[in-house]
Amino acid sequence: MSIKVLGTGAYVPEKIITNDDLQKLVDTSDEWIRQRVGVGERRVSVNETAADFAVKAAQQALEDANMLAEELDLIIAATITSETVCPTVAGSVQKAIGASCPAFDVNSACSGFLFALDTAVSFLERDGYKNILVIGSERLSKIVDWSDRSTCVIFGDGAGAFVITKGEGYLESKLFTAGGDEVIKIPGFGGSSPFYTNEPMHPYIFMDGQETFKFAVNKIVHDIKELVEKAGLTLEDIDHVVTHQANIRIIEFASKRLKIPMDKFFVNIEKYGNTSSASVPIAMAELARSGKLKRGDIVVMSAFGGGLSSAVCILKW
Ligand code: ACO
Repeated sequence: MSIKVLGTGAYVPEKIITNDDLQKLVDTSDEWIRQRVGVGERRVSVNETAADFAVKAAQQALEDANMLAEELDLIIAATITSETVCPTVAGSVQKAIGASCPAFDVNSACSGFLFALDTAVSFLERDGYKNILVIGSERLSKIVDWSDRSTCVIFGDGAGAFVITKGEGYLESKLFTAGGDEVIKIPGFGGSSPFYTNEPMHPYIFMDGQETFKFAVNKIVHDIKELVEKAGLTLEDIDHVVTHQANIRIIEFASKRLKIPMDKFFVNIEKYGNTSSASVPIAMAELARSGKLKRGDIVVMSAFGGGLSSAVCILKW
């Protein structure tokens, strides 16, 4: 399969909310949040939208790729927090950066960026699609119930982006969905029709944390092992693992069970918390700028979340 990542970009809003700040809102502590989740602080939007973040991450990725917006053939944005159903986040980015290609959003919650990337890879196999901008952008602060301590300590806002083109580096991928709303659910706008008789649902993130935790660890471990074997590689061949930054303990469990040392896992959850579909591309943009990522390195990206959904892919950088 064909892909080369030409550029990466990331953007997080300026406002920092520390664990101590959250203690003023809910009954929690810096110690509990660091130990059980691994988050020290998160970025929170004041007025910027998911589309605003996406524009900034996209501009950085284009600059990194040394590419003009007019050269793009497609823009795909993953998001669950667009301010408007339409225009889409991808459509807003298209206008803001001065591109003229088609643009659309995908939603697969925290796995969304890897679903979008996989979709982009399929487009690259069609005529007329050479350069694609793929974005994950979330303003989760909008759908967090700030009075619920079991969720508000976890999430943050931000965006990440890739500019990709045809290449040789997409070795294997696997997408998974188990439809259902028992474990993670985020109701949308319920409408105000005079004909409805049900009460509108609470429009915030509901999550059964422990069930999500078990699902995540099992999927990461199983799918990485399966894909590595399918790609004709061994776990020792992996240079970097970039998983969804949902909980440091999930990443540590995965490291232990895969017997891949923690120093191969890129971790930035302490700074940003869980930014849903933005989490993997923000981490990748930081890894790319760290100087540790070299052309030819084997990178595993893995994400999981609402849907339930999960996605894994192996890239030769
Ligand atoms: N501060 C202090 N205490 C808390 C807090 C808090 N912020 N939140 C919960 N607690 C308490 C609970 O009330 C409970 O108290 P009790 O024992 O008196 O009842 C105790 O801490 C333990 O609660 P658990 O829910 O069992 O805590 P757990 O260790 O499972 O951690 C967490 C919860 C962080 C949510 C964890 O389960 C987790 O990270 N799950 C995975 C989340 C994830 O991966 N999400 C990604 C997808 S999200 C998406 O797709 C939108």
